Amino acid sequence: MTNTIITRSPRKAAGFIHAGEVVAFPTETVYGLGADIFNEKAIRKIFAAKGRPEDNPLIAHLANISQIVAVASAVPHEAEKLLAAFSPGPLTVVLPKHESVPTLATGGLLTIGVRVPAHALAQKFLAACGVPLVAPSANLSGRPSPTTWQAVATDLSGRISCILQGAPTAVGLESTVVDCTGRTPLILRAGAITFEQLREVVPETKLAAGDSRERQKSPGTRYKHYAPQAQVKIIEHPGDVTGGDEAAYIGLDRPGATKFKRTRVCGNTAEYAHELFAFFRQCDAVGMKTIFCQAVEPQGLGLALMDRLTRAAQTGTTA
Ligand code: TXA
Ligand code: MG
Repeated sequence: MTNTIITRSPRKAAGFIHAGEVVAFPTETVYGLGADIFNEKAIRKIFAAKGRPEDNPLIAHLANISQIVAVASAVPHEAEKLLAAFSPGPLTVVLPKHESVPTLATGGLLTIGVRVPAHALAQKFLAACGVPLVAPSANLSGRPSPTTWQAVATDLSGRISCILQGAPTAVGLESTVVDCTGRTPLILRAGAITFEQLREVVPETKLAAGDSRERQKSPGTRYKHYAPQAQVKIIEHPGDVTGGDEAAYIGLDRPGATKFKRTRVCGNTAEYAHELFAFFRQCDAVGMKTIFCQAVEPQGLGLALMDRLTRAAQTGTTA
């Protein structure tokens, strides 16, 4: 057991990074669990704390875009255009990795995902660290990503040295991962920056099909993700389902006369995305058996939301 320090000081948190420890920190998407990208021993602690398979690569987080030369060996023209439009922000571009980045950080791949969070406290923390950090989401592997510091504490207290305490995250879903090593940008994971937004900047941008070889490039998508302990069921018509004492509901429409133990009606897709993982965790805390989630149109943020819902509803595989 490690004593987990909870602090609001980015400098104090950076001290743990300098000492070769791992630190959870807020970003605009979800909380991340960071380690010095050049310290293999520290990176091993990320995989151990999360119970994450070592073939699942980590994203490099930069304080500002000028650090990109330390982690990537090239920045293709399309990547440059996308970064100019959406960075700092919830966009991760996959680039050829710099030789000094250990392959432990990239799950054995010769590429690296890179992003600059648009979050004041994250930027202060990253600047105080002075080195790029690799950081997956700060949850136990397979659990919903944490959108509050308390969710991080629930999963990782006693397993990590420090939590940098910030507000609940603004977006609530993870960044969009775009492979920029091929001829045209390829979306490996839908996220906060939408397909439509990306196509406005680089019209050739494509979406990797769910079962394609391209999708296999993003090893994380092979694992079950984002799942609460309750069974997740995606429904089209909230009026048609029978709730009950052990069932919860989240969606855009009111679920009619049916009674649920917990009900969350969201005003729009952005609010639904913001609430989803927190709702999953609230349901787990009270031992809910089933969570009914209303399907949304797979457009805009709805594409990322449906991706997370679909994976949460899968049974069988574990991370
Ligand atoms: O918003 C986010 O992206 C959050 C915050 C903390 O920045 N991070 C995050 O990391 O969601 P993680 O590790 O939970 O998810 C990273 C995803 C995984 O599906 C992983 O396989 C993929 O990005 N990925 C990372 N590096 C990659 C690479 N070099 N090639 C292909 N996919 C990569
Ligand atoms: Mg994750």
